Amino acid sequence: MKCRLIVSSILAAGIALPAMAADNQEMVMEARKVIKEFATQLKGELKKAMKDGGPVNAISVCNDKAPKITDQVSSRSGWSVARTSLKPRATANNPLPWERKVMEEFEARKAAGADPKTLDYSDVVEEDGKKVFRYMKAIPTAKVCLNCHGGDEVKPEVEMRLKSLYPSDRARGFKEGDIRGAFVLKKTF
Ligand code: HEC
Repeated sequence: MKCRLIVSSILAAGIALPAMAADNQEMVMEARKVIKEFATQLKGELKKAMKDGGPVNAISVCNDKAPKITDQVSSRSGWSVARTSLKPRATANNPLPWERKVMEEFEARKAAGADPKTLDYSDVVEEDGKKVFRYMKAIPTAKVCLNCHGGDEVKPEVEMRLKSLYPSDRARGFKEGDIRGAFVLKKTF
């Protein structure tokens, strides 16, 4: 707990406000619910596209639908929702400095034996005079992800399509169980 507070004050760049524990817990629960909805929708679209036309076809889902689903979930839930990574594919998903620090902390916790599924982080900061609750949750790499984020598992035709869409792609070479990235949720209150 003490460690968390110190980390959040360093991360916050501004002022980290020690929110009331009970309120915080409620926000964490809400954020997790939104992530569940978001992840289910993304995975559903991905599975369907993979079944219909394999990974080359499914790239368009991630390329075209993922940003749209992100916007939809954001406007429906009232949360700002995003995905990021230490090795991003889309430049639009490049991490902010505080997000990078949290993901580096996730990597350190994983290296110390933590299960990536359990890695999350929350704090409250002040931005433009308003309190903002921030939540991040690690996204583990599953086997199906290796079709487009793995090493040798990525087929040549998939590789070609990815290269043309994402010339500065860094989201390759992942293994099952690695942390692929993180969900980032924010809410002003
Ligand atoms: C069919 C190919 C494909 C598969 C399979 C796939 N992804 Fe992706 N992934 C992409 C593409 C393309 C993007 C870039 C999306 C964009 O332009 O916003 C992406 C982006 C992401 C991002 C956002 C951060 C970044 O790197 O830009 C995360 C996180 C992510 N994928 C996780 C996963 C996980 C976890 C799985 C497995 C459950 C998975 N992906 C499976 C193609 C794929």
